[in-house]
Amino acid sequence: MLELIIASKNDGKIREIVDILELSDLRVYTYKDFPDWPDVEETGTTFYDNALLKVEALVEKYGKPAVSDDSGLEVDALGGDPGVDSAIYAGEHGNAAKNNEKLLRALDGVPEEERTARFRCVAILMTPDGWRTSTEGTVEGRIGFEPHGALGFGYDPLFFPTGETRTVAEMGLDEKNKISHRGQAFMKMREKMEEVREHLKDS
Ligand code: IMP
Repeated sequence: MLELIIASKNDGKIREIVDILELSDLRVYTYKDFPDWPDVEETGTTFYDNALLKVEALVEKYGKPAVSDDSGLEVDALGGDPGVDSAIYAGEHGNAAKNNEKLLRALDGVPEEERTARFRCVAILMTPDGWRTSTEGTVEGRIGFEPHGALGFGYDPLFFPTGETRTVAEMGLDEKNKISHRGQAFMKMREKMEEVREHLKDS
């Protein structure tokens, strides 16, 4: 049995990650299993740095393998913002309604063809001896003019993947996972699980 801590307190993300990894011999731990879960400040300037801060804190504290991701939305017309600050864009961590409102205000008057954007995700898996492996995923698209759909989380109601007439918040989880930045990063992580197992056997 492979034990793995999912380094996130976002239930939407956890659901997606567990769904994608889909390993029958995996024992997943989340923040719900550890009352003294550490609050890690995301002080990094890149998605990689922030993912590393999160995974390191958990591996150090609980001595089990852990996987983290850091992700966000890059909007071209805003010079790549909100980027690593996606979760706190409007000042309150994870307040999606406020973040979406702020994003629409920032893009007020920007025409459709200039509303290009992408979600980016970096995932890192670390084992208790400090060995680690990382993957990345991106999905290109554009920002709409008002929210559509109630599924998913965060900026999903505003994001139209390239070639789609629906936002991500109008897609089911399976459909989102097939195309999303996190879906791609964790599919690649799933492909690396054999390597992780081998490493754990030898360490
Ligand atoms: P993180 O938890 O530091 O990775 O912050 C990620 C933030 O980026 C979230 O709070 C959302 O605002 C945004 N984000 C990341 N992935 C997604 C997604 O799949 N859909 C919508 N918003 C996302």
